Amino acid sequence: MKYLYFFVIFCALIYTAESGNILAIFQFPYFSHQRFHQTVLQILLDEGHTVTVFSTHPHDYKDHPNVTQYVFEDSIKIHKKYTDMLMYRKKKLHYSQILIQHEARAYFEAAEHELSHPELQKMITNTSAYQFDLVIAECVVCTSFLFAEVYDCPVAIVSAIDAPYMIHNMMGNDINPFKYAESLFLPYIHGEMTILQMVDSLMFQLFYEFIFNCVHIYNNVRMNYNHFSHLGLSTAKSPNHRISLLMTNTNQAFGHVRATMPHTIQIGYTHVEEPKEITDLELKDFLDKSSNGVIIKALGSTVNTKSLGIENVKKFLKVFSKTNMSVLWKLDEVEEGLEIPPNVKIVSWLPLSDALAHPNVKLLIFHGGIFTAYEAIDRGVPMITFPLAYDQFTNARLMAHKGIAMEMDLNSFEDSELTSAIQEMTKPKYAANVREMRSLAYDQPINNRDLIVWHVNNAIKHKLYYARDFGNFSYFGTPLKQCFVYFAAFVLLIIYLVRRKFKKVDEKLKKL
Ligand SMILES: *[C@@H]1O[C@H](CO)[C@@H](O)[C@H](O)[C@H]1NC(C)=O
Ligand SMILES: *[C@@H]1O[C@H](CO)[C@@H](O)[C@H](O)[C@H]1NC(C)=O
Ligand SMILES: *[C@@H]1O[C@H](CO)[C@@H](O)[C@H](O)[C@H]1NC(C)=O
Ligand SMILES: *[C@@H]1O[C@H](CO)[C@@H](O)[C@H](O)[C@H]1NC(C)=O
Repeated sequence: MKYLYFFVIFCALIYTAESGNILAIFQFPYFSHQRFHQTVLQILLDEGHTVTVFSTHPHDYKDHPNVTQYVFEDSIKIHKKYTDMLMYRKKKLHYSQILIQHEARAYFEAAEHELSHPELQKMITNTSAYQFDLVIAECVVCTSFLFAEVYDCPVAIVSAIDAPYMIHNMMGNDINPFKYAESLFLPYIHGEMTILQMVDSLMFQLFYEFIFNCVHIYNNVRMNYNHFSHLGLSTAKSPNHRISLLMTNTNQAFGHVRATMPHTIQIGYTHVEEPKEITDLELKDFLDKSSNGVIIKALGSTVNTKSLGIENVKKFLKVFSKTNMSVLWKLDEVEEGLEIPPNVKIVSWLPLSDALAHPNVKLLIFHGGIFTAYEAIDRGVPMITFPLAYDQFTNARLMAHKGIAMEMDLNSFEDSELTSAIQEMTKPKYAANVREMRSLAYDQPINNRDLIVWHVNNAIKHKLYYARDFGNFSYFGTPLKQCFVYFAAFVLLIIYLVRRKFKKVDEKLKKL
C-alpha cells in the first residue's frame, strides 16, 4: 500500500512538472536590464525548465546544468557609439531626436550584429536541429519575436521597465493619451495630467505612429527579410499574434498603473535580493562608524567622472563637506589634486544593494533608475534624484509625488538647494513614507516568483497565443494598420478643412 502511495505521488510529480525548452534573447545592452532578465530566467531554471539564453552581458547561473549561454560580444560597444545619457541631458534633446538619431540607430545596428551570431544563425537555418516551447524576449528590439515564428511557439515579453504603450496595445491593455502619459520619456502622472501634458502625450503617440513606427517597421522588415527570407516567412507579417504574456518591472504601489488584461503581470521588485553581509572590511568599517548617518551617491553604471564634469564633482564635494553625515560616493576615478573632505569616501565599486541595507544609511542620491529605486525602497531609504534620461524623469516625478524622493536638475542645481534637500529628505517622515510604500508593494495575494512560474507554465502548456485564445483587443490591430487608420483620419481632416474653405470662398463670391 505504502509503495502504491509513493508510486502515485511519483507519477503525479512527473505528470505535473511541465518543464519546457525556452529560448531567451535579450538584445538591449544595459547591465541593469540584463540583471533583471537573469532573475526571471533563474526562477524558471529552478522550476526545472531548460534555457538557452543570448544576452549582451554574461549572466551568472552558478553552473546550472540546464542553461546554455551565449553573449553578443559587440552590442555594448555599438550602443555606446550612438547613445549617451548625459549628452542627451546637457543638450536637452527632444525625445524624437533621441529615438531617431540615437536609440533606434543603436538598436538596429546592434540587432544586425546580434542576428549574425553564429549560434543564432544555426537556429535560423538549421531549424530541425532545435525545438523550443517558448521564446522570451525584451520588447525594445522585436526582431527576436520572429524566432517564435520559426519554432511555432508563443512569445513571452519581459520588460525591464514599464512596457511602452504599443506593447500594452498589443496585449489589449488600455491605452489612452489623455489618461496616461503614453511615453516613458514624458514625466507626467497618469490620471493627473494638465491639458498641455495631454496634448504632449497625444503628440508622442502621433509621432510614434507616423514617424517612428513607419521607419521602425521598414527597418525591421528589411532586416528580418535578410535573415529569415529562406524560411518563407512573409516579411511584412507581424509576429505580434504570437504573444502570450507580458511581464513588466512595475508595481502598483509605485504608481503608473493602467487597466490591463489578465496576461499582463506586474513583477516589480523581483530582482531585489535579501541583503548580504558586506565582505569589504574597510567599507563595512566606514558604514559601522558613521553614527551621524551615511549618504550614498551613485549615478548609475554608465556615468563616469568625465561625463559628469569636474565642476559638478566639485559642487557636490562642497555640499558634502558641510554636512555632519558621512558620504559614500561611487565614482570611477578621482582627478589628481582634488580635495576630498574627510567625511567623504570615494569608491570605484560598491555593493550598492547590500550597502543600502546598512542601518546607518539615511539617504540615496542617484539618477532615478528603477532597479536602484526598488532596492532603496526595499531597504527603507529615501532618495534625491538627478534624472538623466529615459524613464528616469518619470520615476523621479512619481517618487516625489509619493513623498519618498526629491527631484533635482544636474544641469542647474545650486549648492544651497542640495544642502536643504539633504536636510529635508533625512527627516524621519520620508523614511516612514518609504516603509509604507514597501509594505504596500509586497502585500500581494501571490508572490512574484509563483506568479511568473504559473504564467510561463500556462503559456507553454496551452501553447497560448493571447490574441487567438482571448481575443484581438488592440485598438486597430497591427502597428502598420494603425498607421493607415491615423493616416486616413488625417487625410479626411484635411479634405474637410479644404472643402470648408472652398465653401466659404464660394459664398463670398456669390455675395459679390
Ligand atoms: C535539468 O533538466 C533535467 C531534464 O529536464 C531534469 O531532470 C533535471 O532535474 C534538471 N536539473 C536541475 C538542476 O534543475
Ligand atoms: C543541422 O543539425 C544537425 C543536428 O544537430 C546536424 O547533424 C547537421 O549537420 C546540421 N546541418 C547543418 C547544415 O549545419
Ligand atoms: C547634524 O546636522 C543637522 C542639521 O544640519 C543637525 O540637526 C544635527 O543635530 C546634527 N547632528 C549632530 C550629531 O551634530
Ligand atoms: C485574432 O486574429 C488572428 C489573426 O490575426 C485570428 O487568427 C484569430 O482568430 C483572431 N482571434 C479572435 C479571438 O478574433
